[in-house]
Amino acid sequence: MENLKKRFIEVFGVEATGAYFAPGRINLIGEHTDYNGGHVFPASITIGTYGYARKNGSQKIRFYSENFAALEVIEVPLENLDYRKEDNWTNYPKGMVKYLQEAGYQIDEGFDVLYYGTIPNGAGLSSSASIELLTGVVLKDLFNLEVSMLDLVKTGKKVENEFIGVNSGIMDQFAIGMGKKDMAILLDTNTLKYELVPAAFGDYVIAIMNTNKRRELADSKYNERRSECEEALKRLQTKLDIESLGELDEATFEANTALIGDEVLIRRAKHAVYENQRTLKAKAALQAGDLVEFGQLLNASHQSLKDDYEVTGIELDTLVANAQAQSGVLGARMTGAGFGGCAIALVKESELDNFTKAVGTAYEEKIGYNADFYKANIDDGARKL
Ligand code: GLA
Repeated sequence: MENLKKRFIEVFGVEATGAYFAPGRINLIGEHTDYNGGHVFPASITIGTYGYARKNGSQKIRFYSENFAALEVIEVPLENLDYRKEDNWTNYPKGMVKYLQEAGYQIDEGFDVLYYGTIPNGAGLSSSASIELLTGVVLKDLFNLEVSMLDLVKTGKKVENEFIGVNSGIMDQFAIGMGKKDMAILLDTNTLKYELVPAAFGDYVIAIMNTNKRRELADSKYNERRSECEEALKRLQTKLDIESLGELDEATFEANTALIGDEVLIRRAKHAVYENQRTLKAKAALQAGDLVEFGQLLNASHQSLKDDYEVTGIELDTLVANAQAQSGVLGARMTGAGFGGCAIALVKESELDNFTKAVGTAYEEKIGYNADFYKANIDDGARKL
């Protein structure tokens, strides 16, 4: 932190007036359910994005990231902010400024922000939502905006959907904005009602395993999966009175697959329906302290994402299969959008070193480069420090 404070002075010539942090997130279970009106079960983690900021008295915004130091300071006007490819990562904060202005919040003076992220880029731990929410808390503080965290969360989602062009759901921004120390969030994405559930794993910890295969949402099959689910829903709606796949239980779904009539679309919708039910079961298992059941649900989730939803790939499958085979592991699955990025495993803490060595070696042998391993620590959501 002291270093970043100094860097701010070196880059902008004056001291910052505030320091901020926004976490990344893992998702325990409930994958690709958030744009299907289902439940998700994420948690905010201690790795994330740090920021220092101050108002600068001009009509310009100046952005700088320690992670993109070669790009130096990127300067943009305060008004008429539009997506521009050459503005690179600053499109995320630019989108936040633009949509908050459009919503009527007074952001009428330029400002300087320094960002530093500890989330590996493209790892599927939501570095982009972390930058968005960090920007949200910076703006709220610098301009004394009377904006709720939930509105910052929704603004972040709007940035992804409309400014960047990824049709993502609300899970990432919600987890990062509303996260609480040592708690997982069971969120009903249909109503935005949520419940904080102690992330109590006893002798076990959540290990994060990074495939080191980058995933870019915009050029992944993310939007394609979303359209496939929408098409399946449309076909089900010819007979069923439902608004989303999240409203279906397994039996009702199975009784009506003929309405969908296409093998691929049936598998996509099946994942959405079953994964939503698994999420509710996993939350109940965690609350009951039944970690064995919880772990089995993680395994079933991965299987479904691999076979029915087809968003895993050789890197994630290799990590997860090897993790599941280790002693002291109750379950493992990919986390986030898939196509690369990270997986999680529920591992006995005393076995963590052996686990990392064994899975790491097997991964490197098969894939040809190494995976990274971190222990997930669950901490509070986006905030001023
Ligand atoms: C990405 C999206 C989320 C969610 C997950 C998959 O992280 O940003 O909205 O859809 O993928 O569960």
